[in-house]
Amino acid sequence: MIKIKIPATSANLGAGFDALGLALNYYNYVNMEESDGVNIVSLDGTEIPTGEDNLIYASAKSLYEICGRKFTGLTIEQTNSIPIARGLGSSSACIIAGLAGANRLMGDPLSLDELVNLSAQIEGHPDNTAPALLGGIVTAVFDGKVVHWVKQEVHTKLKFVVIIPDFELKTEKARECLPQDISFGDAVYNLSRAALFSASLLTGKYENLRTAVHDKLHQPHRMKLIPHAREVFDTAYSLDAYAMYLSGAGPSLMAIVDEENEFFAGKLRFSLDRMGLGTWQVKELAIDNIGTSIE
Ligand code: HSE
Repeated sequence: MIKIKIPATSANLGAGFDALGLALNYYNYVNMEESDGVNIVSLDGTEIPTGEDNLIYASAKSLYEICGRKFTGLTIEQTNSIPIARGLGSSSACIIAGLAGANRLMGDPLSLDELVNLSAQIEGHPDNTAPALLGGIVTAVFDGKVVHWVKQEVHTKLKFVVIIPDFELKTEKARECLPQDISFGDAVYNLSRAALFSASLLTGKYENLRTAVHDKLHQPHRMKLIPHAREVFDTAYSLDAYAMYLSGAGPSLMAIVDEENEFFAGKLRFSLDRMGLGTWQVKELAIDNIGTSIE
């Protein structure tokens, strides 16, 4: 049985829609081996599909088919920490587990680049799948077939404090509310900020991050689907967060915070409780520079 560890991911990072994403130290674990038929169990009680429609299973099976290998079935044991449909890359984690796991079981016929390409083809965009596989912060352009990417390790003691609402928001729905066209000015607004984000994160110019996370492509439209999001942003800024952005398609909200801002998460928890958001979770995370690993 191989054991796969896959990190959660946070995509977009404000202005880098479908282009920027980073991996976080919050993990799903998947044990996998070849077997006869479909045997899928959840080890932690999370409700998961246990048939052929299971995303890990389906992704793994597709890789066997692509490689022209005989496929009889798989035994899969899942431990799911990453919450589903919350903007933390849960579906990408399943796709990567399936592809990376199947690749290992077959003796690694596919290269890392091929796995990056295939996972983006399945997900439709690379900004969760690539960092889930590679770790660190990943800048990626998906041309429809191939992902042109750079992974950079981030050595920072910045904290990524994620606020996870108590409801799901499917990426499909959160993409439906996006505009078909944007103006030239808005395009410049976004591309300049996306570029500023990674350069500032990697060089330690954290005072730029608040400007860098602003965007005109998706957050203004999606924030309307998340009640209290604006209030939570304002509260986090009043507690000295460097930056606040919508994680992926939402509904999770991400605060980037200095390590010396020791009591940020506790104070935010207190404020959320006072806003009547006691069922929303607050988790203090850090960047994972390793990505998916297999034992
Ligand atoms: N870039 C994608 C989106 C991420 O914003 O729709 C979804 O997880």
